[in-house]
Amino acid sequence: MSHEEFPTDDPAVVTCGLPYANGDLHIGHLRTYVGGDVFSRALEKLGQETAFVSGSDMHGTPIVVQAEQQEVDPEEFALGWHEQYEETFPKFAVDFDNYGHTHGETNTELTLEIVEKLDEEGYVYEKEIKVAWDPEDDQPLPDRYVEGTCPYCGETARGDECDEGCGRHLEPGEIEAPVSTITGNPAKYRDRAHKFFRVSELSDYLTEFLDRLEGTPNAQNQPREWIESGLQDWCITRDLDWGIDYPGVSESAEDPAASGTESRPEEDLVLYVWVDAPIEYVASTKQYSERVGSDAYDWEKPWKGDGEIVHVIGRDIIQHHTVFWPAMLRVAEYNEPRAVIASGFMTLDEQGFSTSRNRAVWAREYLDEGFHEDLLRYYLATNGGFQQDVDFSWEKFQERVNGELVGTVGNFLYRSMLFAHRNYDGTPDAEVSDDVRDRIGDAVDGFGAALNDYSPRKASEAAVDLARFGNEYIQRNEPWKLTDEDPEKAAQVVRDCVQVAKAVAVLMEPFTPGKAQRLWEQLGEDGDAGDATVEAALEAPPSGFEEPEELFEQIEDGRVEELNEKLETRVEEATESDEGVDAEGEDEMADEDAGDVEPLADDRISFDEFQSIDMRVGRIESAEGIEGADELVRLEVDVGTETRRIVAGLKQLHDVDELPDTKVVVLVNLEKAELFGVESNGMMLAAGDQADLLTTHEDADPGTRIR
Ligand code: MF3
Ligand code: ZN
Repeated sequence: MSHEEFPTDDPAVVTCGLPYANGDLHIGHLRTYVGGDVFSRALEKLGQETAFVSGSDMHGTPIVVQAEQQEVDPEEFALGWHEQYEETFPKFAVDFDNYGHTHGETNTELTLEIVEKLDEEGYVYEKEIKVAWDPEDDQPLPDRYVEGTCPYCGETARGDECDEGCGRHLEPGEIEAPVSTITGNPAKYRDRAHKFFRVSELSDYLTEFLDRLEGTPNAQNQPREWIESGLQDWCITRDLDWGIDYPGVSESAEDPAASGTESRPEEDLVLYVWVDAPIEYVASTKQYSERVGSDAYDWEKPWKGDGEIVHVIGRDIIQHHTVFWPAMLRVAEYNEPRAVIASGFMTLDEQGFSTSRNRAVWAREYLDEGFHEDLLRYYLATNGGFQQDVDFSWEKFQERVNGELVGTVGNFLYRSMLFAHRNYDGTPDAEVSDDVRDRIGDAVDGFGAALNDYSPRKASEAAVDLARFGNEYIQRNEPWKLTDEDPEKAAQVVRDCVQVAKAVAVLMEPFTPGKAQRLWEQLGEDGDAGDATVEAALEAPPSGFEEPEELFEQIEDGRVEELNEKLETRVEEATESDEGVDAEGEDEMADEDAGDVEPLADDRISFDEFQSIDMRVGRIESAEGIEGADELVRLEVDVGTETRRIVAGLKQLHDVDELPDTKVVVLVNLEKAELFGVESNGMMLAAGDQADLLTTHEDADPGTRIR
C-alpha cells in the first residue's frame, strides 16, 4: 500500500462511529470509543498531529421510533441523550477534541452543500419506488419502523439493515414480509418518489479505493464481496419529518401530480440518516478548527488537502464506511479515508448484550462499582485483536487486571521506584546502559509498528512486555545485594529501571491515561503525560522523586463473586423475559448488540490445531450432585481406556438419576481443574448456558475418537 507511515507530516483526523442518541451506553458501546481514543492518543505519541472527533447521531428512525414509544419530541429526546454522552465519554477518558451532533448548524450546512454537489454532478436522480406503509394508521414505515425477512440470507432484519444475519444494508422495499414495529400490522407497499445516489457508477472507483484502504482486514474484505455482486444505487431520502430536509424539496414537491405520485407534505421528505451522519465527521473537525483556530488545526487539510482520515467503527457499519461514504466523498471532491478500523462484537459472559433486556454492564454502573476507568479501557483495547469479538466477564476482567496491570506493570513500577526512592531519593546519578537503551528503543519501535498495523493490542504488548523485561532485569541483577558490594553497579541497575519506568509511563498512556499521569507525577515529571511523545521514553527523568504509591490494586475473588451474582441474576431475568418475548419486544435499538446467539468466531484455526483437541465418546457410569453447589454434578465416565471423574454444571436441565448410561462427548485432554474441592479430569460437551448434553446418534463405543 502506498501510504506513508505514521507519523506523517500532515495532520490526521481519527473519528469514531457516531452513537445514536437514543439510550444508555454500556461497556459494549464503549469498545469503539475507547479503541478510537487509544488509537488517537497513540498516534500523538508518535508525534502525529491528530484531531479526534465524533458526535451524536440525532436523526433517523432509531431516534424517532424510541421517542414515539416514549411519547416525547425526537429533538428533545435526542438532545437529552446527547448531553448524557457528552458527560459519559470523559469519564472513561475518551477525550474528543470535538464532540458535536448531527442536528447542529455546521452539520446541516455541510450536508446540504454536499448533497447539492452530488446533484450538480449528475449523481442524483428521482425514482418511484415501493415503500412500506401501515395501512391502518396510514403512515409510512421507513427503516426501523418495520421488521421482516432479509432477502439475502433469510434472517429477521430491520427495514434498512440485516442486523442479525448477513449484515447488509437493505434498500426501501427490499425487506420481505414487513411488519410495523409500532402497531404489529403487516405493512403494505406504496409507490413514492425518492432520490437516489448513483453509487453503481462508482464501482470501479470503489474497487480501487478498497485496494488502497488500510485498517482491519474485515473492512476491505466484506465490501469487496458486495461490490463484486453488483452495487445498487442508494436511496438517500425518507418519508419522515425528523431529519435534514432534502434540499430544494419544496420545488420538486410543488407539483406532485406531475410525477404521478401522491401528494405529501413537503417537509416529510428528509435525507436518510446515513447521509448526514458521517458528514458530522467533517462538521465536528470543522468545529474543532473553528475553536482552536486553523493555525492550530486546519480541518480542510485532512478532508480536502494533505492529511489522513482514519475511521474507527463497529463491524456492523462497514458497508456505510467503505461504500456509501467514500462514494459521497469522491463525488463531493473530498479526500478518501486512509483507514477503516472495524471492531468485532462484544458479548457478555458469552452472550449478546441487550439494552432493552438489561443484559449489560452499563457504563455508569461500572464506575459506580468504584473501578478506575483505565482498567476497563485496558481490557477493551487489548483483549484480542481489534476485529475479533471480545467477551466480557468479571473473571476475565479480574484476570487481566490482576495479571498484567497489577502483577506485571504495577509490580515492576512499585518495586523499582520504591528501591530508587529509598536508596537514591529518586533517579540515581548514572547513565542508562546500552542494553537497556536498546531494549526501550525496541519497545518504542514495536509500539510504532503496531499502530501502523492498526493493532492497539500489539501496541499495548510493547508496553507490558517492557515492564515484564523490567521485572526480570531487576530480579536478575538484584541491586539490593549490590548496594554494599558494588555501589556503582547498583546505581547503574536502578538508573536503568527508572528509565524503563518512564518509558512504560509513556507507552501505557494511550491505554491507561489516568494511571500514566499518576506515574508521571511520581517520577517527578511536570506537565501532562499525554503531551509526551515516544522520544521522552529515552529522556532522563528528574533526579528526585517522592515515595511511590502502588498504581493498581488487586481485584479480590470475593468481589468478583459479588459482581457475578448481580450479573447472573440480571442475565437470568433477561433470559426468562426472552422466553416470553414476541417479535415486537425484540431489541430494536441495541446497535452493537449481537443478538442472543453469539456471533461466529472470525479467526479460523488450522486443521492441526483441531487435531490437538482430543474428544472421545464416553458413557456415564454414575452421577451424583455435589453438596452445596447448586449446579454441579460429579460423574464417573467411561472413556474407553479408563474411567474419568468429571465435574459438570448439569443440575439445571438434567435429572441426575437419569444420567447414568447416557453417551456423551468428552474433551479428554483439557487441563485438570478443581471445582468445589473435587478434581475434574476432562470436560463433557454441552450446548448453551443450560448445558444441554451432547450425545451420539448411533452406537459408537466409549473411547471412539471424535473428528
Ligand atoms: N449511529 C450509527 C450507528 O450507531 C453510526 C453512524 S456512524 C456515521 O450505527 F458514520 F454515520 F457517522
Ligand atoms: Zn441478511
